[in-house]
Amino acid sequence: MKTIEWKEDGVYIIDQTKLPHQLTIIKCEDYERIAIAIERMEIRGAPAIGVAAAMGIALAAKKVASGSLEEIRIELNKAWHRILRTRPTARNLFWALERMRAAWSSADSPSEIVKNVIEEAIKISEEDVAACRAIGKFGAELISDGDRILTHCNAGGLACVEYGTALGVIRAAHESGKKIFVYASETRPMLQGARLTAFELKIEGIPFKLITDNMAGHLMQKGLIDKVIVGADRITRYGYVFNKIGTYSLAILARAHDLPFYVAAPISTIDLNVTPDNVIIEERDQNEVLYINNTRIAPEGVEALNPAFDMTPGGLVDAIITDKGVVRPPYDFSLLLRQGH
Ligand code: MRU
Repeated sequence: MKTIEWKEDGVYIIDQTKLPHQLTIIKCEDYERIAIAIERMEIRGAPAIGVAAAMGIALAAKKVASGSLEEIRIELNKAWHRILRTRPTARNLFWALERMRAAWSSADSPSEIVKNVIEEAIKISEEDVAACRAIGKFGAELISDGDRILTHCNAGGLACVEYGTALGVIRAAHESGKKIFVYASETRPMLQGARLTAFELKIEGIPFKLITDNMAGHLMQKGLIDKVIVGADRITRYGYVFNKIGTYSLAILARAHDLPFYVAAPISTIDLNVTPDNVIIEERDQNEVLYINNTRIAPEGVEALNPAFDMTPGGLVDAIITDKGVVRPPYDFSLLLRQGH
């Protein structure tokens, strides 16, 4: 089953806020519904957000297909800026939007615009499936039989179109017959690990245990973890990795215990045009921290911080597994990107 799918009558997404208890599908018929789905994290994970953004633009074009060239371009611009504002950290969203703008800019009739943007959105989605398979193939070579692997957040099929990045590596290693064991950290405050990674690992039949975020150091000290592998929302020059809050702490812990720390991401996550200081780390509503399942857990009047991501310097990352191959320090992605898009 795909996390997001383009169909004749709309874009269908799995509502990730309802998982693991309910498997609900949302039908998005316009770009505003897509934008809301990204903001509410009904769809989340960097690659999936990119695909959703692209499909949002395609929906916008379809809606005004009978308009003039000028009208379509105005509407597409509106949709583009609306989707651009949804979430600031994942590079894939901006990357997909740039590709969609290029797809409509080169067309000179309304029908050609509609055709181009729909084709491009579907292409971005199909490319993600292939990229995750490639990441899985390259990454599985870094996994040994018997490895006990810690992963954080959800970088699985639900964060992409179907296979996953960090979880794609885990999945590929498992499929190749290696006996591995996974520790999935619950990932406060939105619990992507407990709700989504646990859901996926269970379905795949990969042996695992769920842990709270604060157990990682203890498990490493006890010699129960061999490797850490996570996804990424944005990777800048020299391998600075922006990923789910808590990733940096895990990288520090891994280094302190002399354990390999790997990041898996498609090249659409790499952004050579920013410095780490310029990447916006999304600050989400403090109520996500103050409440669990609509029950307030802190005293009234208490305020909370809620940065959704953090930055791990490349010096703490032993390898970055991309769809074009494994990159090791010192991180230089320029050749890789030239071969890509
Ligand atoms: O806030 P989220 O759930 O969108 O954050 C997701 C992550 O941080 C993932 O690790 C990242 O997007 C990589 S997903 C393949």
